[in-house]
Amino acid sequence: MCKKAAEQYVKRFKELKIKGQGLYFYSKVAGSGKTMLISAIGNELIKKYKARVKFATAGDLLDAIRKTYNPNSEIKTHELIDAAKEVEVLILDDMGQQSVKKDTNDQLFKILNSRMDKPVVTIFSSNCKIEDLPYDYRINSRIKDMAVPIHAPEESVRENLTDKKNKKILTELLTG
Ligand SMILES: Nc1ncnc2c1ncn2[C@@H]1O[C@H](COP(=O)(O)OP(=O)(O)OP(=O)(O)O)[C@@H](O)[C@H]1O
Ligand SMILES: [Mg+2]
Repeated sequence: MCKKAAEQYVKRFKELKIKGQGLYFYSKVAGSGKTMLISAIGNELIKKYKARVKFATAGDLLDAIRKTYNPNSEIKTHELIDAAKEVEVLILDDMGQQSVKKDTNDQLFKILNSRMDKPVVTIFSSNCKIEDLPYDYRINSRIKDMAVPIHAPEESVRENLTDKKNKKILTELLTG
């Protein structure tokens, strides 16, 4: 289902882009392939449509914004926020993983509110449902408006791959 949604999204990007329609992949289980999927969508949008895509972990973006508060910072706070507001496609990985302070809510609100109003496309991944995100309800309601929630499998591809790899290594060790 995730793969089909991703393929169709890329195929219909031109019409969905006009509406600013994005996607929100979530699964409680870690390692189900969310980061891989949203990266693949980003790569395809660049390849197929020459879209301008920015990929960031939500926590890294907020940390980078916080670093600009330092008066010695070479990048100004508004430059970073404006870039996040304006880019054609913003991919935010791991929503809701970072500690949430008033500042986090303020910056995220500015970015997402502006993206919703333009509208421009935002694609998210998270380990929780939109309504369970630890942000202000005004942010969560905007995310719901901007992105279709898609439940990724509650199964860890990472664990399956790790099990396979570990079994192979053990077999090699025991038969070598
Ligand atoms: N469709 C796939 N086929 C093969 N390998 C995959 C597939 N999807 C994901 N993987 C691999 O599984 C591992 C976990 O994937 P990924 O990091 O995308 O999961 P995640 O859902 O983002 O995890 P987390 O919740 O911890 O952020 C990675 O090593 C990735 O390369
Ligand atoms: Mg991930």
